[in-house]
Amino acid sequence: MADKNQENGVGAGNPIVEVNPKPQKGLTSKLIDYLEKLIVRLMYDTSQSHHYLSGNFAPVLDETAPVKDLPVKGHLPKCMNGEFVRVGPNPKFAPVAGYHWFDGDGMIHGLHIKDGKAAYVRRFVRTSRLKQEEFFGGAKFMKIGDLKGLFGLLMHFKRLTNPMWLKLWKMEIFKLLACWITTKDLKHSFTAHPKVDPFTGEMFTFGCSHEPPYVTYRVISKDGVMHDPVPITISDPIMMHDFAITENYAVFMDLPLYFQPKEMVKDKKFIFAFDETKKARFGVLPRYAKDDLLIKWFELPNCFVFHNANAWEEEDEIVLITCRLQNPDLDMVNGAVKEKLENFTNELYEMRFNMKNSAASQKKLSEPAVDFPRVNESYTGRKQRYVYGTLLDSIAKVTGIVKFDLHSEPEPGKGKIEVGGNVKGIFDLGPGRFGSEAVFVPSKPGTTSEEDDGYLIFFAHDENTGKSSVNVIDAKTMSADPVAVVELPHRVPYGFHAFFVSEAKL
Ligand SMILES: [Fe+2]
Repeated sequence: MADKNQENGVGAGNPIVEVNPKPQKGLTSKLIDYLEKLIVRLMYDTSQSHHYLSGNFAPVLDETAPVKDLPVKGHLPKCMNGEFVRVGPNPKFAPVAGYHWFDGDGMIHGLHIKDGKAAYVRRFVRTSRLKQEEFFGGAKFMKIGDLKGLFGLLMHFKRLTNPMWLKLWKMEIFKLLACWITTKDLKHSFTAHPKVDPFTGEMFTFGCSHEPPYVTYRVISKDGVMHDPVPITISDPIMMHDFAITENYAVFMDLPLYFQPKEMVKDKKFIFAFDETKKARFGVLPRYAKDDLLIKWFELPNCFVFHNANAWEEEDEIVLITCRLQNPDLDMVNGAVKEKLENFTNELYEMRFNMKNSAASQKKLSEPAVDFPRVNESYTGRKQRYVYGTLLDSIAKVTGIVKFDLHSEPEPGKGKIEVGGNVKGIFDLGPGRFGSEAVFVPSKPGTTSEEDDGYLIFFAHDENTGKSSVNVIDAKTMSADPVAVVELPHRVPYGFHAFFVSEAKL
């Protein structure tokens, strides 16, 4: 009898599940495809444009062979030897109907840097979903962009009726909003924002589900052993996109952005809806807890958070530095472009949770709109000073990179983010040029040198010329003169998160 793990591609000593789908083209699937076409024809306005598939949001459809010895203006410092990667949604096949900015297969763009030279390559994330769609030569899986109103229910139900897709549909939405890592011990989704403690080497992570437990917490030891899952008790399925750690605690965010399939149909709403009548709840749990009995919950005025910058302990308090949104509407990045994205006024905030007297407070640190906050990761979970973020003209386009000094106070009376007060520098990309998340690369690893002694690296695209590049700027000075610009041989669409791995850690 075949070993189940072998069928799933889990070999001895290799905990990663290799994707090996066995799709079949049969009469049933043809009938279901016909039904889908009928639903789309009767209920979906196909004249709607997909803003997040147009311009430089448009996907690139092919992978590339590595292109070496790219033109470099300036110089790539020695500490940048390593791999810089960034993911984008990048669906391979055109959607059948709706498309949300968070829908996609996932394309990784990589820049390999070695001794001042750079090479570029890009690859799809080779999921089971992508392999099955490649087999059929078209989009087959449910899209978040379809999940609105009765049409959303029918499209969802249609996907359920096809046995080829049955295995995967349940976790699909949450996996799309998390990431694609699967191991034989991992039965829940896995956040795209795990935290690695720089002092212990442990990884702390969580996953969300539409079924209880809605949140599961997990610690992974330095040598890769996954500790038992810890269910976190909350009342409803939510979108929890990020969390935080300190030296002794993990910080969870129970924020009122709910997964609401019933309301989707009844009120013709998008599947994720923000409830502005509910409070924002933050849970602080000892980070090696085996259950959530010791979690301490704090309430603050309602908000949503995609991304935290960092957290640490200060006497009796837990301090969380975060990008806070008021009353977000995820339907704003669905389908055609909306004229105003005023519900995405992401602002930098400091939140404090007192473990002794249970008080919670918050303080605004910036004007809108800033997100994708990054810090020198040698200080993850520890008190630190500088936060680097992306300036957003909407939630989709990055106009510049900003550096905040948490030791300075914000300047009052500002309507927008400008240098002064706690804003120590802005790298403005200029007219028609847009960037992406900037990752801090230290000149020296560890905490022996100055915290901001290092560089920020990010992808950029010039809509005037259609050319893409990787930019490296000085994080200490935030000089308008880049340290290095690597010209890329291909267009890199706008995307999401980036990551740098030094040569020493590869
Ligand atoms: Fe994220």
